[in-house]
Amino acid sequence: MPPESALPAPRAQGPVPLEKALAQRRSQRSFGATPLTAAEAGQLLWAAQGITGGKGERNAPSAGATYPLVLYLVAGHVDSLAAGVYRYLPQGHRLQAVAMGDVRAALAIAARGQRWIADAPALVVIAAQPARTVARYGAHAEAYVAMEAGAAAQNMLLQATALGLGGTLVGAFDGAAVRRSLALAEAEQPLTIVPVGHRR
Ligand SMILES: Cc1cc2nc3c(=O)[nH]c(=O)nc-3n(C[C@H](O)[C@H](O)[C@H](O)COP(=O)(O)O)c2cc1C
Repeated sequence: MPPESALPAPRAQGPVPLEKALAQRRSQRSFGATPLTAAEAGQLLWAAQGITGGKGERNAPSAGATYPLVLYLVAGHVDSLAAGVYRYLPQGHRLQAVAMGDVRAALAIAARGQRWIADAPALVVIAAQPARTVARYGAHAEAYVAMEAGAAAQNMLLQATALGLGGTLVGAFDGAAVRRSLALAEAEQPLTIVPVGHRR
């Protein structure tokens, strides 16, 4: 079983009002050299898929509460985390190491050569295991899962803005190449890559 590690507890409030984060969010494609802290990385993951309800409800909506999304933190420069790929476990707000080594450059190539992606200290890849959503919603599931990825990504981008960070929703990539770079299972589909870091 790959090692798991607890993330710092997510903060429940911050100084930036939602309206300010909405107005300030802009795609960020150039990053300063400052690493992310583990608390910042954890806060971004929590914003996207953290558990906030007593029945396991998360802070982004999910069709029929089927929760098909799986988030991967691709760490390059994150304090106290070795470069590597980590699966976010919403239950317990934990990370599970999946693979060691820096795959940011491989993901930049997979993203049609968008080289700036490799300079972000961290990337969050939103993938999906759509089986439960498909079982319940059949042909509608593909659209539902895409809607969920959009909602989770926007939560994360607003949280990044509120933390004084920036990111971009990246949709242009070769899915098979991303799957290879992250060693994803066949059943997992990468939906978006979100590079995040300090604004330059
Ligand atoms: C579905 C989708 C896919 C996107 N893919 C990329 C991408 O591959 N690379 C990129 O640099 N920006 C990408 N973007 C970001 C848009 O270019 C950006 O949101 C748009 O130019 C508006 O600018 P703003 O986000 O700063 O408001 C994507 C946005 C969306 C919604």
